Amino acid sequence: MNPALTQFGVQMSNLTGVRAIMKDIVETLRAHTGQQLINLSAGNPLILPEVEQLWRDCTAQLLASPEYGEVVCRYGPSQGYVPLIEAIVEDFNRRYKLNLTERNILISPGSQTLYFYAANSFGGYTTSGELKQIVLPLSPDYTGYGGVCLVPEALIAYKPALDIDAAAHKFKYRPDFSKVSITEKTGCVIFSRPCNPTGNVLSDDEVKKIAALAAPYDVPVFVDSAYAPPFPAMNFTEMTPIFGNNILHCMSLSKAGLPGERIGIAIGDERVIQVLEGFQTNACIHASRYGQAIAARAINSGALADISVQVIRPFYQNKFTVLENTLNEAMPNDLPWFLHRGEGAIFAWLWLQDLPVTDWELYQELKQVGVIVVPGSTFFPGLEEEWEHKHQCVRISLTGSDDEIATGMQRLAKVVQQVYQRAAVSA
Ligand SMILES: Cc1ncc(COP(=O)(O)O)c(C=O)c1O
Repeated sequence: MNPALTQFGVQMSNLTGVRAIMKDIVETLRAHTGQQLINLSAGNPLILPEVEQLWRDCTAQLLASPEYGEVVCRYGPSQGYVPLIEAIVEDFNRRYKLNLTERNILISPGSQTLYFYAANSFGGYTTSGELKQIVLPLSPDYTGYGGVCLVPEALIAYKPALDIDAAAHKFKYRPDFSKVSITEKTGCVIFSRPCNPTGNVLSDDEVKKIAALAAPYDVPVFVDSAYAPPFPAMNFTEMTPIFGNNILHCMSLSKAGLPGERIGIAIGDERVIQVLEGFQTNACIHASRYGQAIAARAINSGALADISVQVIRPFYQNKFTVLENTLNEAMPNDLPWFLHRGEGAIFAWLWLQDLPVTDWELYQELKQVGVIVVPGSTFFPGLEEEWEHKHQCVRISLTGSDDEIATGMQRLAKVVQQVYQRAAVSA
C-alpha cells in the first residue's frame, strides 16, 4: 500500500536530526558484527547496578502490595497517578520551599511527549492564522525539538555567543541576548539545562533573563530538565532548578534508570498544565501506571534523589574526566580544538575550528578506525542560517567504558591530526 500522506503525515513519518544518523549507525554496527567498534554515539543511559536494584526493589514492593491490581488493571486520570503526583508535590515543596498543589503537575509518557504537546499547543498557527514561534534561545540544542513540531516553520533557534579559553582548549556557549528575540510572535520557549548535546548549563541568571523576556507576552518557558537535579542530578556544576511564573520545569525519569517506562513530569502554572493535560487525554489517555507507581515509591523514600547524587552523577562525571584528560594528552596543542565545558548530561561536545572536512566526513573517517560519534550538524534544529561552526563539531557519548572512551579519544586525536595535516599539505 502507498496511501497519500497529509502534511502532518509527511512531517511525522520522516526521520529527523539525530534519528537519521542513528539509522546509519545501526547499519554500521550490523555490518561490522564481530568487530570491536567503539560506539560513543548512544543517548541510552547505561544500566548501573545500584539503579537497577532500586527499580527492582520498588517493583517487588508494588507486587507485594494490594495497590498492584489498581495500578495495572485499571485506567486512571490523564493528569497522572495520584500517589506519584502527591509524592512530587511533597518532595518539591520541601526541597525547594515551593507552594505547589497537585494542579501544578502533569505526568506524561516520557518527557519527549511534553515537548510535543507544548510545541503544538503554543507553536504553529493560531485560530486567526497568525504564526506563533517556538523559540530555542541557544543553538545547538536537543535534536528532538526538531521532530516534535507539526508546523516546522514555527521553529526558530538562535546562534549563541562563544566564551573561548584558547590556552586551555575549552569553550562554552552562552545565549546571545543581542540576538534572541521573544515578542508577541512567540508561542513558547524551550531549552535543555543541562544541555544535550553540549553538556552546557545555562546560569540561573540566564534562565531568569529568558523567563523575564517572555513574561510580558504571557509566553511559557519550558526548561527541559532531563539531566537536572534533583533526579537524575547529572549536573557537574552548581545549578538551581528555577520555578514559578511562566517557567515550566520539565523532568524525565529516563536518565534515572527508567527510560523503558516512559515517565515525564511537568511542574508549573496550572493553566498551562491543563492545556498539556487536554492534549495528552486526546493523544494517549495517560502514561504507564506501573512506571508511575514505582516512581512514587522511589521518590517518597528519598532513594531516587540519593542514588542520583551518590551514584549516577559521579559515574558520568568520572567518564567526562577520563575523556577530558585523554584529549588533553592526545590532542596536539597547536590545533584549534575546543572541548565544551563539561557541566552535565551524558555527552561531551568537541569543536574543531576551521576543520578542513565536514563533521559528516569526519564521522565517516572515524568509523574507519572503529570509533562512532555523532556529527554535530544534526543538533541545530531551527537554525536555518549558514554557520560554518555547525559543521565543525561532534557529540561524544559518555556511555562507553573508561577504556573505550580513552582508546576512542586517542584514535580520534590521530584522525583529527591527519585531517588538518592533509589540508595543510594540499594547500
Ligand atoms: C534533553 C532531552 N530532552 C528530552 C529527552 C527525551 O527523554 P524522555 O525519555 O523523557 O522522553 C531526551 C532524551 O535523550 C533529552 O536528551
